Amino acid sequence: MDQSTLVSYLKCSERDEELFRLADETRKLYCGEKVHIRGILTFSNYCLRNCLYCGLRSGNRKVKRYRMSEEQIVQRSIDIALSGVKTIVLQSGDDPYYTRDMMSKIIYRIKRKVDATVTLCIGERALDDYRAFRFSGAERYLLKFETSNRMLYEMLHPGQSYAHRLKLLECLDQEGYRVGTGNIVGLPGQTLDDLCRDILFIKEQVPYMLGIGPFIPQQDTPLAMSPMGDLHLSLKVLALARLNSRYANIPATSALAALEPEQGQILGLRAGANVIMPDFTPAGYREHYQIYDHRTHVNLDTARQTIFKARSAGCNEHVPACAQ
Ligand code: 5AD
Repeated sequence: MDQSTLVSYLKCSERDEELFRLADETRKLYCGEKVHIRGILTFSNYCLRNCLYCGLRSGNRKVKRYRMSEEQIVQRSIDIALSGVKTIVLQSGDDPYYTRDMMSKIIYRIKRKVDATVTLCIGERALDDYRAFRFSGAERYLLKFETSNRMLYEMLHPGQSYAHRLKLLECLDQEGYRVGTGNIVGLPGQTLDDLCRDILFIKEQVPYMLGIGPFIPQQDTPLAMSPMGDLHLSLKVLALARLNSRYANIPATSALAALEPEQGQILGLRAGANVIMPDFTPAGYREHYQIYDHRTHVNLDTARQTIFKARSAGCNEHVPACAQ
């Protein structure tokens, strides 16, 4: 897709139906009917970063912080695999408490016990850490670029550099990870032109996975009073990402469910998404993982119901199997 077509889809609303239909057809053609289920475990909400939009930011004193122990993480990961979900996503804030050795051991123990793919989403680490985690058996890594507008990126992420973020994405690829990335739609100060550049960046990166979700203000952050990202615009960006990155695995993010609990993820799965990520974090911890407000708990059952509704209702097609 050339840039002017991209711009016209993004900026005009007349062709929205056509855009969603094309994205859905592209998803079918390149990824098939399966909706992949990934089990997410948010094992620590400590974070040394101070990102303006995120509820886990270090400056937020209102969060009740938690860390799961090595034993708890391994055991919960085994539970995820035993429930039939064969991709485990270990997510946390940027938390150096989990040293290179500790994290490596956790990955190694999970891989020794169950036949599952381990995906990490634990932020910016030293290159040697990434290498060690890969060596211990982690296959995938999620690190979103969040916005391709360098100035906006650096304003929202105090002390972090956009160039370093890009460098890390490159390193992860070189270390042999299947790399996932993505952006946030509707960040304060972000323009439609920025979103176009995000999509062009995605196109050029050819990521294995793409997380695209709306900005949702969190009450204890400096952006608490900023307007919420728009669901329709987020779906358009998702659809355009699908058209420009045909083979990528794209989740219907839980941020879509936060904006619109009944329909958000269903609409995502109909606008090009092919992945859903139910949360397996134990109660007692998960309610403190408030990266944004209005987080709804997507569990394995609700994820399955969402897949069923997305792929059956409305269009009289066969209901696909859930690939795990
Ligand atoms: N709104 C939307 N997405 C957010 N994230 C963090 N805070 C917010 C928010 N307020 C996303 C970031 C990060 C991922 C783990 O959560 O994109 O990469």
